[in-house]
Amino acid sequence: MNTKNIISIETSCDDTSIAVISNGKVIDMCTLTSAQIQNTFGGVVPEVAAREHENNIIPTFQTILNNKKIDLNDLDAIAYTACPGLRVSLNVGEAFATTLASYLDKPLIKVNHIYGHIFSFLYDYELKDLQYPFLSLIASGGHTSIFKVNSPTDIELLNETKDDAVGEVFDKIARSLKLGYPGGPAIDKLFNPAKATISFLKHKQNYNNEPFSFSGYKTQVLNYINQQNMKSQPLDINTICSSFQKEIVSMLIDKLRYYMDTLNINNISIGGGVAANSLLQNQIATLNAKNTYIPKTKMLCGDNAAMIAIYANLIYFNM
Ligand code: KG4
Ligand code: ZN
Repeated sequence: MNTKNIISIETSCDDTSIAVISNGKVIDMCTLTSAQIQNTFGGVVPEVAAREHENNIIPTFQTILNNKKIDLNDLDAIAYTACPGLRVSLNVGEAFATTLASYLDKPLIKVNHIYGHIFSFLYDYELKDLQYPFLSLIASGGHTSIFKVNSPTDIELLNETKDDAVGEVFDKIARSLKLGYPGGPAIDKLFNPAKATISFLKHKQNYNNEPFSFSGYKTQVLNYINQQNMKSQPLDINTICSSFQKEIVSMLIDKLRYYMDTLNINNISIGGGVAANSLLQNQIATLNAKNTYIPKTKMLCGDNAAMIAIYANLIYFNM
């Protein structure tokens, strides 16, 4: 088998990431994040993210060159995240990738960021062990969707949120509790099942094949926090975070169960930043799937260039 080497560039949100894949395995990656700067604004400001990508893209590339895992002349292709994402941020990666491909006279592969998330677990799995079709839950700061994946190029959207993304809800609740950005990891750290005693859900939401919807639920949690503040009552942050995490994760699990049962599909995967959630990862086991594909390397749940190279390799070199 011919060794194929791809360099990939990811700049869709607030992470500037470059990775190198050789023969299906990620051999190098460097990621610089602007999350700490975004934290001072309470969320991602597109122009700030784009400016940080401009500052970070050359140092990221320089690190890859310094690591000497690959000689640029041995590259077979350049891949980059073409969509979806913040347009001003995507532009930085696109300009860099296009220039590099033109300078090296190598093919340029455009990758859909979401498809990268779907196959990100391959970082830890062998392609030969992958069974199709599988259901893929992608939950991040910008997306909450379930796909039926028949092959790398045959991916059907079954469900997506009609309002907020689930990561966005984690971030907004965390912000109102002054836990910083990104909020998901902070809430997850405070999770304690014994403390999940509040029910914010007033009526059943996200039932069966209804499109995901989280904004009404988010408002209920935020209202509770505001009412406690107005009554000058001390906030029991552990109880609020634990109860919220338990309820929102169960909405995701119930939806996966619905599609497993109705479509009779027994292989499932998760991806996206929220896939790093400890409760979500535990609860996936309760679905008793034949095969469960989870990015074991937690860093691969969030945005990274490795998943862009992994997907480019699948569709371009079929490996
Ligand atoms: O995939 P990602 O890095 O960027 C987007 O494409 O949006 O996802 C970021 C999101 C943020 O909303 C962050 O709060 C959430 O993923 N997140 C988590 C956890 N780690 C990151 N949410 C819940 N639990 C976590 N452990
Ligand atoms: Zn993402």
